[in-house]
Amino acid sequence: MATDPHQQKAATMGFALRPDAWGVGYGRETVRLALDLAFTNLGLHRVWAARAPRNEASAKTLLAAGMVEEGRIRGHVFVREAWRDSITYGILKDEWAARNGPGRNVSQAACAIGLTRDVLTVTAPLTVQRHRRIIDVHLLLIRDNRVLLSLRQGGYASGQWQVPSGHLEADEPTDHGTVREGWEEIGVRVDPDHLELAHVMDHRAPGEDPRFGIFYRAHSWEGEPYNAEPDKCGGISWFPFSDIPDRTVPYHAAALQHIAAGRISSKFGWKPRP
Ligand SMILES: CC(C)(COP(=O)(O)OP(=O)(O)OC[C@H]1O[C@@H](n2cnc3c(N)ncnc32)[C@H](O)[C@@H]1OP(=O)(O)O)[C@@H](O)C(=O)NCCC(=O)NCCS
Repeated sequence: MATDPHQQKAATMGFALRPDAWGVGYGRETVRLALDLAFTNLGLHRVWAARAPRNEASAKTLLAAGMVEEGRIRGHVFVREAWRDSITYGILKDEWAARNGPGRNVSQAACAIGLTRDVLTVTAPLTVQRHRRIIDVHLLLIRDNRVLLSLRQGGYASGQWQVPSGHLEADEPTDHGTVREGWEEIGVRVDPDHLELAHVMDHRAPGEDPRFGIFYRAHSWEGEPYNAEPDKCGGISWFPFSDIPDRTVPYHAAALQHIAAGRISSKFGWKPRP
């Protein structure tokens, strides 16, 4: 939608959908949303549109939204080496209000709206990207009621203990990601079938995006754990659950308490919602 440079409170509208989305009503809904935006959010007085004479789908879409055919602009656009006429449609604010009452506030209808100079771009809710969250996977090795922790060195949380862990990679199931981290960080081989879900935690640190932590306990493993990443890790050690070091990454420490108490899920670092 672009405001008309020489008319007050008027705009011209154009619209196009991907062909695989045609014919199920999105066109009608898109034009209605654009008109809601024009009259409810922007307070315009008039909106108009032009279509190619042979574009039946556009004609029906414009009429279905309540626009009225107004006339023909001769030789309006130069397309494929020839001047082509356009058929125009328009609607006034009062006509829109008579059909739709007060109208919807488009920004409240969860549309993404981009404004560049005097041109507005409306993205229908169906195309808005879904929220994606980082997943951290954690490998719990427990022996004689002691849990294996590694000491972070350099970078985030340097000098704090943690359960061996890392980010899940794309196209990787959580059990395989946990097995990979175990091999990379402490050099043990774990069969994914020997993992048991111990805890899931919805956690966030101040000023950071929320993340999702999954803790798997390995019932068996091959190899004696060792510090396989000496550039990132200051050492590994076994700790009783009752004596987890004070200097442990806070959400890991909280998760270990929950695990010791037999709780399967928790939240960490979230402020209560008003
Ligand atoms: C025009 C366009 C947005 C219509 O979107 P759509 O989602 O397919 O349309 P809808 O499903 O909402 O249907 C709206 C009306 O158009 C009619 N229609 C849809 N496709 C049609 C077609 N190929 N031929 C004839 N009528 C058609 C529908 O039957 C409906 O009419 P009705 O209310 O009388 O039943 C889409 O075809 C498009 O993106 N075309 C290419 C770009 C374009 O031409 N834009 C318009 C520039 S002015």
